[in-house]
Amino acid sequence: MDINSIRKDFPILNRNFIYLDSAATSQKPRQVIDAIRNYYENYNANVHRSIYSLASEATEIYESSRKNIADFIGARDNEIIFTRNTTEALNLLSYSLQSKLEKGDEVLLSRMEHHSNLLPWLRLESHGIKVKFIELDSEGNMDEEDFKSKLTKNVKLVSITHVSNVLGTINNIEFFGKMAKENESLFVVDGAQSIPHLPFKINDYIDFLAFSGHKMLGPMGIGVLYGKYSLLEGLPPFMQGGEMVKSVSLERVIYEDPPVKFEAGTPNVEGAVGLSAAVDYLKKIGMDNIRKHEYELGKRALELAESNKLIEYYGPRDSRKRSGLISFNLKSKKYDRIVKDLQSKSIIAGKLIHSHDVAEFLGDKSVFARSGYHCAEPLFKYLGINGSVRFSWYLYNTIQEIEKAFESLGEINV
Ligand SMILES: Cc1ncc(COP(=O)(O)O)c(C=O)c1O
Repeated sequence: MDINSIRKDFPILNRNFIYLDSAATSQKPRQVIDAIRNYYENYNANVHRSIYSLASEATEIYESSRKNIADFIGARDNEIIFTRNTTEALNLLSYSLQSKLEKGDEVLLSRMEHHSNLLPWLRLESHGIKVKFIELDSEGNMDEEDFKSKLTKNVKLVSITHVSNVLGTINNIEFFGKMAKENESLFVVDGAQSIPHLPFKINDYIDFLAFSGHKMLGPMGIGVLYGKYSLLEGLPPFMQGGEMVKSVSLERVIYEDPPVKFEAGTPNVEGAVGLSAAVDYLKKIGMDNIRKHEYELGKRALELAESNKLIEYYGPRDSRKRSGLISFNLKSKKYDRIVKDLQSKSIIAGKLIHSHDVAEFLGDKSVFARSGYHCAEPLFKYLGINGSVRFSWYLYNTIQEIEKAFESLGEINV
């Protein structure tokens, strides 16, 4: 993998900063930006509706983008529903599935879920559905024994993240998925942090999968819900309106077949086009190569974290079990002193510098990292910490950038 030539494809990297927040959103290569411009300059029209040639071309581009994205994950194109993002995909699923769940049914999640794979299911509690959680072991892996004991006959759905956006853990979805299938539970995967980073193909045990375009070099505002066709056929739509119907009378509505049934209103065509270009880019580099590169960066990050006594990091100790991020806190060098001009009340309580203060300091050094709860607040409460700093990298980051970021941490004199 030629990082220098990859970096040249990302115009924003000409600015002088170290971007370590790709888990929040990735940067975009020129190929994606150009595909979107080309769409608007040459093909823009509303899709699925009109007879004239320009509209047919726009529809053809939209549908071939769907096919390209389907191929990327080894699915069929009629199993790909375009949404705004992972959040909308999981909400769509929770609303559509609601009619299939009954009072007393259970949903099994894990302690490490992002709010997007938590709140849509917690919402079902007001309909009499019980939500349970798989516990974590001391390194931040899902506890397989706990999972087995909680996977009772009442569990109708298991929904877990493939990669934790806080701990970096790569979960063994094959194990959880196969067990869920044996139990006749639906199995849902939150792929927001895995599809951009790991080689992946849909398997029989995955019923639904959600991911976001903007985390995998695509534009914002486009995401995917994959669903097994036989299941999508049996689900009611979440939203109603234009595009998603075969026929409407005031007495009767006949819906389109999936996936169009789930795409009410004018879709995000530029988003689909941009995501398809992003997928082409990822395929050209190769997902195996991307994983290998990110693994090397992760190994170096872990070494640097291990060698700094002031760093407390979270998640597995083995780089092979981790994807492209590390969450940590920095201990104060002078923790017994009250620092009045910082938000860091935790300096006194937990001897940790508040993650926002660390991120602000890093930002001043042009190292851009996320801090806080990373939309997984219950996980932090469970870990007993008040947020973390997170470095997250992608195919365009270098070992030197990781080293510089850790070096900058050493300059914090609090
Ligand atoms: C694991 C995980 N799930 C879901 C999401 C939500 O993604 P989006 O904001 O694109 O809907 C994120 C975003 O950070 C995430 O990391």
